[in-house]
Amino acid sequence: MTGFSSLRRRGLLAGLAGLGLARAAPAQAGQQAGRRHEWHFVAAEREARLLGPEGPASRIWSYTDGLLPVMRIRQGDSIRAVLENRLPEHTTIHWHGVRGPNAMDGVQYVTQPPVEPGQSFTYDLTPPDTGTFFLHPHCNEPGQVGRGLAAVLVVEGDEAEPADADIVLAVKDWRLAGDGAWLPFVTPQGAGRAGTFGTRRAVNGRPDFSATVPAHGDVRLRLLNLDATRTLTPRVEGAEAVVIATDGNALLPPAPLEGWRVGAAMRLDLLLRAPAAGGTVTLHDDFSRTPWPIARLTAAPSTRPPRPFAPRGLRPGRVPRADLARAERLPFAFSASLGLPGTAPGDIAGLPPEDPFAQVLLDSLCTGRQTFWAINKSTWPGGAQGDHRHLPPPLAELKAGRSYIFELHNTTPHPHPIHLHGHTFEVLSLSRQEGLPRFLADTVLLQPRERAEIAFVAAPGNWMFHCHVLEHLETGMMGWLRIG
Ligand code: C2O
Ligand code: CU
Repeated sequence: MTGFSSLRRRGLLAGLAGLGLARAAPAQAGQQAGRRHEWHFVAAEREARLLGPEGPASRIWSYTDGLLPVMRIRQGDSIRAVLENRLPEHTTIHWHGVRGPNAMDGVQYVTQPPVEPGQSFTYDLTPPDTGTFFLHPHCNEPGQVGRGLAAVLVVEGDEAEPADADIVLAVKDWRLAGDGAWLPFVTPQGAGRAGTFGTRRAVNGRPDFSATVPAHGDVRLRLLNLDATRTLTPRVEGAEAVVIATDGNALLPPAPLEGWRVGAAMRLDLLLRAPAAGGTVTLHDDFSRTPWPIARLTAAPSTRPPRPFAPRGLRPGRVPRADLARAERLPFAFSASLGLPGTAPGDIAGLPPEDPFAQVLLDSLCTGRQTFWAINKSTWPGGAQGDHRHLPPPLAELKAGRSYIFELHNTTPHPHPIHLHGHTFEVLSLSRQEGLPRFLADTVLLQPRERAEIAFVAAPGNWMFHCHVLEHLETGMMGWLRIG
């Protein structure tokens, strides 16, 4: 287990080690590809001071003693991870973004039985791709992830030229009262709109993040949005910066940061050039009216010389590319609906935005009809308990090995980051985010009323397809694909 960031120790940087630099990851240099990692995650309640070292303690749920642990492996390494459940409710581990075997995907009732309290489950997988990923349960996601149950997975080996520092920035708010107790993770107002926001912003679990980086060094920032609902608009002040990876996949050539938004569950890797010693760099989130500093970096003396910033980009990955000319097109509408699970709900997408919309959704909650989000007018049953025992029919049946283009349409006035399990797709178009290059992703942010096209080669299995606003997936906006 390593800290949130690691510094690649080139000899010339060794002198920085004593300066409070980001912690170094052990056993990086000389590590052979194909190593086997044995992890033991004990999902349990633990204590953490989320409101700061002086603040009250909160009862978090976590996999390890550390908050939001960062697991680092090399491409080609295999993982054997035992999940031991000491929580009061069932849980699983989903390996978000990892193109693993379906049986290891961690979806209760779909790919495995839920791991009941007191039980264990062993995950065996060899992640095929490099990149920045994360682990989270697929049960009661607002409550379990909301209390902190998640981990970061970094698969190294994609750098054509090693960065001088590699820093993980996992953004996730906490829903805490002033005394450190949890506030409700699901609210009718939030579930029916853009989601329930946290009360305290945090990076890597803490109220703020700062690190020292080598002057004139190339700094890789792995930005993960682990929040239940928030969208980030990152901006770098004080340094030149480019996007080098989207959801862990190389972006070639690297692109300017302008215009990228990071919805819930999405990741963006940035490369920036640190300033001269003493200089500072701030990564801001510009999404809200007042920019919020995600990370503050200070340059410490190094022997790296000043030189032009001309990033080469990462090595291209191994994701199979769809045959666009022969791909089959399938439409998916993401809508709000009223009705009981399993029935054909009335589509209320035609309503004027905001208030009347929210009012109808609120009414549906008050009358106990808790399912109100839908994909192709089909709602996921089970409500907030994440009970998937009665699987609805698949949204679509696809053929493994064939190319598909999904035409996604958000008919609602709220953003929906849409995630497909087990696949990495290419985002071909976004109707309201023009100007972005084509990129690879496992989650695509649909702005209100936006249309998008994504293309991929189907992989065999039963794969979930859902919005990653946690309250939305728990209240209907989830389905699955049968690929055989
Ligand atoms: Cu992170 Cu079903 O997803
Ligand atoms: Cu959504």
